[in-house]
Amino acid sequence: MNSLTEDIKQHITDVRDFPKEGILYKDISSLFLNTELCHRIVLEFVKFSKNKVDAVCGIESRGFLFGPQIAQLLNVPFIMIRKSGKLPPPVVSKNYNLEYNKATIEIKKHFISQGQRILIHDDILATGGTAKACAELITECGGIATQFSFIAELSFLNGTQTLLPHCNEIHSLVS
Ligand code: PRP
Ligand code: MG
Repeated sequence: MNSLTEDIKQHITDVRDFPKEGILYKDISSLFLNTELCHRIVLEFVKFSKNKVDAVCGIESRGFLFGPQIAQLLNVPFIMIRKSGKLPPPVVSKNYNLEYNKATIEIKKHFISQGQRILIHDDILATGGTAKACAELITECGGIATQFSFIAELSFLNGTQTLLPHCNEIHSLVS
């Protein structure tokens, strides 16, 4: 069996100028054709977070692919962080800047308990802007952003540096 990192890399395709000109899109969709590899990925994420978190927050939309499975195997709740206008009220919102525009994320505040240790999970860590906004949102709700996990990190964008002020447990399966 090849290393998990190598096997994942073979399933990530670079797509130029998608969804806009100048953007290099990392397409992870073919990962989900390989059931054995998906199983290994989930187990690796579970190993990283075992006994360290009380809930998993997945970032819409691709953080919803592995997030619920990780939470179920850890036996902790899964909480959605969604783009604006998708969750019914009451919600709390956070505005943040992306590379070229602005965005808003939302969460059901009462789903987070005071002092709850949270794993923030997503597919790709790029600039870190999205994950950082999630950490801030969780903090505002009384939770503690304890860990971050990603399938892949675009290391040249230094997303890890953006997240380090929040916590130093950051795990990407591929860099
Ligand atoms: C992508 C990716 C991460 C985020 C990373 O999501 O899935 O969530 O961008 O970028 P950042 O680190 O620079 O913030 P996107 O908003 O494209 O949407 P999707 O997950 O719904 O496809
Ligand atoms: Mg995303």
